[in-house]
Amino acid sequence: MQKRFFLRASVLAITAMGATYSIAQENVFKIGLILPMTGQQASTGRQIEAAAKLYMAQNGDTVAGKKIQLIVKDDTSIPDVTKRLAQELVVNDKVNVLAGFGITPSALATAPIATQSKTPQVVMAAATSSITQASPYIVRTSFTLPQAAVSMADWAPKNGIKTVVTLVSDYGPGLDAEKYFKERFQFNGGQVPESLRVPLRGPDFAPFLQKVRDLKPDALFVFVPSGAGAAVMKQFLERGMDKAGIKLIGTGDVTDDDQLNDMGDGALGVVTAHHYSTDHPSALNTKFVEAFGKANSGLRPNFMAVGGYDGMRVIYEALRASKGQGGGDALLAAMKGQIFESPRGPMFIDAQTRDVVQNIYMRKVERKNGQLYNVEFAVIKDVKDPGKAK
Ligand code: DHB
Repeated sequence: MQKRFFLRASVLAITAMGATYSIAQENVFKIGLILPMTGQQASTGRQIEAAAKLYMAQNGDTVAGKKIQLIVKDDTSIPDVTKRLAQELVVNDKVNVLAGFGITPSALATAPIATQSKTPQVVMAAATSSITQASPYIVRTSFTLPQAAVSMADWAPKNGIKTVVTLVSDYGPGLDAEKYFKERFQFNGGQVPESLRVPLRGPDFAPFLQKVRDLKPDALFVFVPSGAGAAVMKQFLERGMDKAGIKLIGTGDVTDDDQLNDMGDGALGVVTAHHYSTDHPSALNTKFVEAFGKANSGLRPNFMAVGGYDGMRVIYEALRASKGQGGGDALLAAMKGQIFESPRGPMFIDAQTRDVVQNIYMRKVERKNGQLYNVEFAVIKDVKDPGKAK
């Protein structure tokens, strides 16, 4: 008798616990943030994780009655690992959104999982034009290489640069940078005598730079991923390329704000085109840079951080707009067309392409208050990805 009572009581207790548990689960909104936290792309992971956490600290962790849970996973920037983690996050953790993606191959490896599970995939870093076409569930808050490369190809010939050798990392974004820079620069009357490609993993820039020195173009146009710029700059200067009259130009990845301050005076005067500078003069950005530094022992937010911060904004507002109801499709619909002021300036998510439309700024490295910054001196407004026009 006693035993039966205990049995029934404990069954009741377990059922009650189960009910509480499932209510708790229903009120949780999970974001699976897959980033390279270790390895060659670790600075990208560190920047985006810090930005996502800052966004949550500033905006609270409850939206439309749901408690936001951020699940951070390190994919070491190996696409097979990204894919496995994405699968686990969708199947086991039942995440509502997949986000992050430090490099293009990681974003592409995840696209089929986003499509099959109808889970929005917010790309916060990777920047090859074609990524948004890999799944109708992809939304991008970073940038595209053609946006920056075309802007530079319009600026250079108007500023005395007639011959350019290109040097890019040999994968998606590098090939985009090379193609879009070259086509537009040649259209504008410039010449590209040579296009060089270096491996993504463990590149040795020395032999390529020697070749550039021998060719002696007016400028060297460079794309390397975030975190690799300092190595290029060092070897460029060590070889005395600047003294030989060769200018360094590129997309803003090469004068990455995460590393710029350690590059030294040799970086002064380098002109790049990009969507974000730590030095962007707006009240919102000043607040963002200050808060980011305060929360991360003085670290500067770079363009990766801003992609992560704005990606969180897009997720929060989609959840708010869909009132915490509905699945991936409702969230996706509420991500499309969002328009807002970012620390980078105004931006929106094009409802048709799900890609970011934003200003591209021309910037020059200058010393301000004892520190090196990419100082914006011109703006090309509301740039759509030129890769989508064809
Ligand atoms: C990509 C990675 C980067 O670090 C960057 O600066 C631009 C593009 C990419 O893999 O898409």
